[in-house]
Amino acid sequence: MGTFARTYAAAVVAWLAVFQGHLVSVACHDSNYKDALTKSIIFLEAQRSGKLPPNHRPSWRGDSALDDGKEANVDLVGGYYDAGDNVKYGLPMAFTTTTLAWSAIAYKSHLQAAGELENVRAAIRWGTDYFLKAAARRDRLYVQVGDPVKDHECWVRPEKMKTPRTVLQINASAPGTEIAAETAAAMAASSMVFRGTDRAYARRLLNKAKLLFEFAKSHKGTYDGECPFYCSYSGYNDELLWAAAWLYHATFKSAYLHYIKEEAVSAVVDEFNWDLKYAGVQVLLSQFFFKGDQCLKSYKDQADSYICSVLPESPYFKIPMTPGGMIHLRDGANTQYVTGAAFLFTIYGDMLQKFNQKVQCGDKQFDSTHLLAFAKQQMDYILGKNPEGRSYMVGFGNNPPKQAHHRGASVPVSEANLEVGCPMSFVRWYNKDVPNPNELTGAILGGPDKQDHFTDLRWTSVYTEPCTYVNSQAVAPLAKLTCPSIKP
Ligand SMILES: *[C@@H]1O[C@H](CO)[C@@H](O)[C@H](O)[C@H]1NC(C)=O
Repeated sequence: MGTFARTYAAAVVAWLAVFQGHLVSVACHDSNYKDALTKSIIFLEAQRSGKLPPNHRPSWRGDSALDDGKEANVDLVGGYYDAGDNVKYGLPMAFTTTTLAWSAIAYKSHLQAAGELENVRAAIRWGTDYFLKAAARRDRLYVQVGDPVKDHECWVRPEKMKTPRTVLQINASAPGTEIAAETAAAMAASSMVFRGTDRAYARRLLNKAKLLFEFAKSHKGTYDGECPFYCSYSGYNDELLWAAAWLYHATFKSAYLHYIKEEAVSAVVDEFNWDLKYAGVQVLLSQFFFKGDQCLKSYKDQADSYICSVLPESPYFKIPMTPGGMIHLRDGANTQYVTGAAFLFTIYGDMLQKFNQKVQCGDKQFDSTHLLAFAKQQMDYILGKNPEGRSYMVGFGNNPPKQAHHRGASVPVSEANLEVGCPMSFVRWYNKDVPNPNELTGAILGGPDKQDHFTDLRWTSVYTEPCTYVNSQAVAPLAKLTCPSIKP
């Protein structure tokens, strides 16, 4: 993270059904949303660190950071760069993985019908393979590779970087409850994704998730090692609850439910992001309330409060919106709040439908239709239905951005092996008002300001920087929009 079509076809679902008494196959053919879904996953491939597999799609990327971990005599090759720079930050990487895993669980049929399930699984595994390395030793988790200050003084592609690959860890004497618990959540959720296809791998993930949760719970302390880039402002209670909820979902062990009911702390909030997970846990736990666990009613009430603050038709609506109708909480990767809301509204909307439930906001009631319509409107804004009439996803739709604030995308392949020092790198590849030579396909950029205005310049990073967790949260809403009539 840096320092900080208009002609939209109506949703068309084509059922490729050979109807001989039974349905043989279903394909989803809203080509616009399908295209956006495919591309949103391709962007995550462009963020991969380490040794790339042969089927890697962004052709301008190569192997990078193959010595990561060496400084500490451990193997930390792999994982994701978070945004436009070349640092691997544990907290947002884990959140990216958790939200992808939830998408793969909740929208498995949609992703399968769209032909994207394997790509999403591969994206999750790119995270969990790394976490298995980072958590190889008990009561220790490697949480960052790279020196953000030095990295930000250099504008070079990750394949060519020479800045220090400083390794940070948390352990019993230097705890970091947020990161340990978020990584536990990521591994527990991911274990559910791989259960059906790779049991041994799923078991390894779940075992590690349990240990990390115990570690997080028994060694409490806020971690500020990723500050000022990823400071936890909200503390660790949300991550502990989130991890417990995912572990309960993955195991149905009463100890986790007991923790959720007796020990965890919850709060009403009106946003969902890499730092603040309460709204997500509340939605997640609501399904167990709907299935009959009356003790979890307070989570359903809190999930409703979240919806009531965000849904514009609600009497308690209170979050900032642009005149053109996009959530705008703050400049700097603002689209994360847009996809974050679309993500929870989609999942909760489908859950309400499945259990025939509604949300009560004062004297007004909202059902699944309202929630899904809001999620669609937020995604449509990003994809082109906005006052500027342009797409905010690179390589998609009408007039997409050309100057993503992204090191790899801005260095031409023809100059990939050029030796350029850090100061000159900015002159050569950054300070030029020209399109990136490499298309950062599928990246949803930070997006417009609070007046719906957008500046497509590499150095306005608050508007043009992409982040993995903006895209990870777009996968579920786009999967839903691709195949609206598949029942969750
Ligand atoms: C625990 O982590 C701290 C901070 O990262 C580090 O300074 C310390 O050496 C670590 N302790 C052990 C036993 O490795």
